[in-house]
Amino acid sequence: MAVAHKFEEVSARELRPALLELEGISRQTVEAHYKLYEGYVAKRNEILGRLADVDVGKANQVYSDFRALKVELTFAIGGIKNHELYFEHLGGVGGDPKGAFAELVARDFGSAESWRADLKATGLAGRGWAWTAYDWDERRLFNYIGDAQNTFPVWNATPLVALDVYEHAYFVDFGTDRGSYIDAFFDNLDYGVVNGWVEAYAIPR
Ligand SMILES: [Fe+2]
Repeated sequence: MAVAHKFEEVSARELRPALLELEGISRQTVEAHYKLYEGYVAKRNEILGRLADVDVGKANQVYSDFRALKVELTFAIGGIKNHELYFEHLGGVGGDPKGAFAELVARDFGSAESWRADLKATGLAGRGWAWTAYDWDERRLFNYIGDAQNTFPVWNATPLVALDVYEHAYFVDFGTDRGSYIDAFFDNLDYGVVNGWVEAYAIPR
C-alpha cells in the first residue's frame, strides 16, 4: 500500500530577540518555553517519519501504536501552531486593542474590557490554552478554551490571539498566580501582528 504520509521535515522558527526582553515574563521562561516548541517540531518530524513507513492496509492489525501516532501527530502539530502564534504576537506594548482587531473586539464583545475579561477567565479555566478566534461560520470572534495542544480547536476558525496557560508559561515568574501572568501576557501583546493576521486572512468587519 501507499505510504500514509508524505514526509518532509520542518524546522523551528527562530526565537526573536524581542522575546527575551518581555515585561514580567523572564528570559529564563521564554528560553525554556522555546525549547518545548523545538520539541514539538522534532516530534512532528519523527512521527511523520514513522507514519511514512506504515503499511496503511495493515495499520490497525500490525501496528499497535498506530492510534497513538495519529493522536500524537495532532498534539505535535497543534503544539507547533499554538506556539508560533504565541511567540509571534508577543514583544509589543499591550494596552487596548488597536486598528482592525479593535473593531472586531468592539463588535463582538462590546468593549476591550469585556474581551480581555472573558479571555482571562477562559485562560484561568483552561488547562493549556485560550484563543481568540474568528469563526467563519458564526461570523464572529469567540474566546475558545483549550486543555491541550490538540483540544479543543473548532473547524473553520482562525486564531488571532493564543494565550498559553500551561504551567511552563508562568510558574518560574509567577508561581501559582496565573492571573498575574495573564495580565503580563496582555501587556506584551503586539496588536500590529494581530492586525496583520486580520488583514492577511481578510477577516470581514
Ligand atoms: Fe507553551
